[in-house]
Amino acid sequence: MIKFTYSSLLIICLCILTQCDRNEYPSGKRYYDAYCGNCHMEDGKGLSKLIPSLEKSQYLLNEQDELPCIIKKGIKSMVPDSSSEVQLSMPAHPKLSEIEILNICNYINNSWGNQQAPMFLIDIENKLNICD
Ligand code: HEC
Repeated sequence: MIKFTYSSLLIICLCILTQCDRNEYPSGKRYYDAYCGNCHMEDGKGLSKLIPSLEKSQYLLNEQDELPCIIKKGIKSMVPDSSSEVQLSMPAHPKLSEIEILNICNYINNSWGNQQAPMFLIDIENKLNICD
């Protein structure tokens, strides 16, 4: 009887834990929340015209090769955006390690309706080697 109670308790705990953490990349989420969430927001929706949304992002669909470089080196906006008066740039994150960048890429690539094949460390190394 006691055994049964313990095992049911364990199953309930496991269910609760897996429900809370459904994304496959929990450490990517931690880094995202720490380094990106302030601007792109926890739900990936960004901030209207100032910060682009990463949710179901066409950009993420088309520019996978650029993603690690963008995270590491940022984006300096060259062309003034006529649709918004304020021009913001994406800051560089030079201190992030390749593993942290890998986790962030996989997290944003597979959150908020985005679905991309997983990246591996070698992909990040190769893509960082060809940053402009
Ligand atoms: C200080 C605010 C800020 C932070 C922090 C920030 N970003 Fe950005 N991000 C921006 C802005 C602004 C742009 C648009 C830059 C442009 O196109 O000129 C951008 C663009 C992007 C883009 C390109 C999207 C598109 O549709 O053009 C990606 C991908 C991205 N950021 C991912 C990240 C990730 C991942 C992190 C965390 C490592 C991060 N950003 C942290 C402000 C930020």
